[in-house]
Amino acid sequence: MCGIVGVLGSHEASPLLVEALKRLEYRGYDSAGIATVHEGKLGRRRAVGKLVNLSDTLVHNPLPGKSGIGHTRWATHGAPSVDNAHPHQAGPVAVVHNGIIENFRELREELAAAGIKFVTETDTETVALLTQMYLEQGQDPVTAARTTLSRLDGAFALAFLFDGEEDLIVAARKGSPLAIGHGDGEMFVGSDAIALAPMTDEITYLEEGDSAVLTRTSLEIRNESGEIANREKRKIQIDTARVDKAGHKHFMSKEIAEQPTVIGEAVRHYLSTDGSGIQLPGEELDFTKIDRLTMVACGTAFYACLTAKYWFEQLAGIPVEVDIASEFRYREPPISKGTVALFVSQSGETADTLAALRYCEGKADKILSVVNVPESSIARESDVAFPILAGTEIGVASTKAFTCQLTVLLMLALKAAQDRGAMTEEEVSNLLIKLRALPGTLNETLDCEAPLAEAARKLAEARDILFLGRGLMYPLALEGALKLKEISYIHAEAYASGELKHGPIALIDKHVPVVVLAPKDNLFDKSISNMQEVMARNGKVLLITDKAGAAEGSEGAWQTVLLPEIDPVLSPILYALPAQLLAYHTAVAKGTDVDQPRNLAKSVTVE
Ligand code: G6P
Repeated sequence: MCGIVGVLGSHEASPLLVEALKRLEYRGYDSAGIATVHEGKLGRRRAVGKLVNLSDTLVHNPLPGKSGIGHTRWATHGAPSVDNAHPHQAGPVAVVHNGIIENFRELREELAAAGIKFVTETDTETVALLTQMYLEQGQDPVTAARTTLSRLDGAFALAFLFDGEEDLIVAARKGSPLAIGHGDGEMFVGSDAIALAPMTDEITYLEEGDSAVLTRTSLEIRNESGEIANREKRKIQIDTARVDKAGHKHFMSKEIAEQPTVIGEAVRHYLSTDGSGIQLPGEELDFTKIDRLTMVACGTAFYACLTAKYWFEQLAGIPVEVDIASEFRYREPPISKGTVALFVSQSGETADTLAALRYCEGKADKILSVVNVPESSIARESDVAFPILAGTEIGVASTKAFTCQLTVLLMLALKAAQDRGAMTEEEVSNLLIKLRALPGTLNETLDCEAPLAEAARKLAEARDILFLGRGLMYPLALEGALKLKEISYIHAEAYASGELKHGPIALIDKHVPVVVLAPKDNLFDKSISNMQEVMARNGKVLLITDKAGAAEGSEGAWQTVLLPEIDPVLSPILYALPAQLLAYHTAVAKGTDVDQPRNLAKSVTVE
């Protein structure tokens, strides 16, 4: 994935590059580096690990220069090491890259045959070496960069910086997003507008296949065919303040605690002015004409889709298919007439989700998205983008974005149900009253933190943990297991409770804690029977339920955590909180890096 930035400034570039990289660290944090041109010469500083290590390096070994490029890495080819860290330099050119050069092996062979030596294990080095080769053949920097670009297959965003060229950056995008920032006698480039926010709010987004030549006072963009392309310059509103932890130990804990507020805001955003109905932003959507909904996403957003499937099917009577983006895009499923495609993504930049969206262009009747970042590629390329209004989410493990996705998806399902006559106005209005009251109920749920933290301290000793749920609790069980493994590194699996006996029950013994998510709903008795099957095999059950559920089903459970009672339709939003808190406190007990867990990144812009 990685984040890239470039600066042609009027002041020293390195502090600007580091600040921009801080804002891009959500894309990867296993190494970082910058390069500048100063007095005509390229210089580089790189460091393994979080950006703070690069900052330390720069304190002891500053890098002067007003023109520079920078990179924060999530390793694809080659382990995180200083050698493999970007920028990659080959003689008079330095390159930063986000994406994967898919034909790098052929290119390496070609370069090796020409006697060129490699010092890294990365695909990106081939880009620098090819450019150097074309420069040595007498091409000027812009032509050499363009010739190199014409040789590359795969997905990439690239920025090139050259020896002796203090007023030039060449940038290109194919498959990975790239934004150009316009300053006053300054020009910037970055993986997103958020990175450039402290420097400028005037942004031009490059389109697929575009390359750009930047100087401090000019920007020339060419499309894939090499023709001059006019791309719109927009004024973007992005909060330049970096988000802080507001007294919490971790961003994740702050983001968990913020949920009552942000969910309240999301609910308000989709309510009509008098609060009695649902008002969707943007163009009118005719839910009566939808025959089928295809929902596609990755990770936590995929589990939000799985939850929403129950809502759209049960409340609105719309058949729903849910797919993982990386499977959907290569399976190339037929999209029948009357199908609306809905993409869910916190970042709006996930490579597979974006590719799946593009696959649906011209095939689906409409392309909808539910996103947190309104300026993201997925939002921009949708017919209608529904914001989730979660605010910036920093913790790599998604929490408030998940529950805000659920809230918005539920409101869409309710609107569809009402428009299609599957629910009466009164039934919808009753649920809206409960949705408006949800922030209060969520606050009460957060009060259950102490028993969950206590349970988590015990879970931290386990090697394997199972999560079980039925109906609307099944996707939540999956999300609970994902959260736990992401940040505590404990192996966790989730099953639909009814599936237990078809295999996973073989894993149960006294060492395997089983988290059962079971509000007292119409499936409660069945969940409890499955729980009994676990306890009969000495499994340790942590039951998360409500008062009525505990009264009926908690006997024999290792531990029971009581949540407030909630309408079953809204239960996934509420039960997400204990799943998040369990994962959080287990990770804290294990002493892992909660906000930036190993090997992960917040936004996955490679396949
Ligand atoms: C990464 C993140 C997950 C996220 C997934 C999809 O794996 O670590 O938290 O759910 O990507 O990201 P998106 O931005 O599309 O929701």
